[in-house]
Amino acid sequence: MPVDIAVVGSCNVDLVVNVDSIPTVGQTVLGGDLKRIPGGKRANQAVAASRLGKSVAMIGRIGDDENGKFLRANLEDNGVNTEHLLKTPDIPTGVALISVQDDGDNAIVVSPGANGELSSEDIAEASPIARGQVVLLQAEIPIETVVAAARAAEGTVIWNPAPAPSESVPLELLDLVDVLIPNQTELELLGGNRKVDTLESISEMAKTFPCSSTIVTLGERGALVVASNEAVHIPAPTISPLDTTGAGDSFCAAIATSLVEGRDLVEAAQWAVQVGAATTLVAGAQPSLPTSDQVFQRLKDW
Ligand code: RIB
Repeated sequence: MPVDIAVVGSCNVDLVVNVDSIPTVGQTVLGGDLKRIPGGKRANQAVAASRLGKSVAMIGRIGDDENGKFLRANLEDNGVNTEHLLKTPDIPTGVALISVQDDGDNAIVVSPGANGELSSEDIAEASPIARGQVVLLQAEIPIETVVAAARAAEGTVIWNPAPAPSESVPLELLDLVDVLIPNQTELELLGGNRKVDTLESISEMAKTFPCSSTIVTLGERGALVVASNEAVHIPAPTISPLDTTGAGDSFCAAIATSLVEGRDLVEAAQWAVQVGAATTLVAGAQPSLPTSDQVFQRLKDW
């Protein structure tokens, strides 16, 4: 069956604690009650794209454990096809430890578990990758698996290099990518660890990549679309975020759903900054992911 969006990547259980302020090295702080919620960058994107009205297949790995069952059930409840969500014996499902501080910013430590086992062989057997109109990739799985998925894709390839890869990125990957969506830190890392801050310097760095277009997410500054040697800045709505977890994920999903609908990159980014902002107004990675109607409602109610 053809699918609008094939999502390849991580599923985690998020263990979340709210704190006044994220602890520094050597510091212990007391926080609120522990919450256990579905997460993982790619699972968040799969659920976000489904809530935004598209057919979605998730390709990934979970453990043969309680957390894995919990995540599969959650994806299915959200209308995501899990036929290619594989069970990995003897390796636990991925877990993310998340602290969210009072201003909405977070710090995340991921234990990849089964996500780290997603292989090129798994990709070869996952038919939705070739059939997806858009294929969404990230970096919480081995980089060679990301490359294999980009090679197998026949539709538009979006790569969100999050979290910033610690190993060097094969040039071939950037060549295979149609739309690269880094945040500022990820952009700097891909650009050889040089610092950039002004819109002009961000745009100059993005133009050096071999992929056809780049959309840099800039938090409260919005996003910068760099394509065909031109840069367009899209400002973000002015809001006070409650929890920024998952905002980058819903942004990527909104770009993917817009491209399926035939919008151009600037229109896609205009929609995605609204979706990302609406996501920060509700707590938790997946509980916060809005439907299209909720995007307008939340921004209006704010
Ligand atoms: O982008 C937010 C996500 O990052 C969390 O859900 C967590 O699981 C990590 O993957």
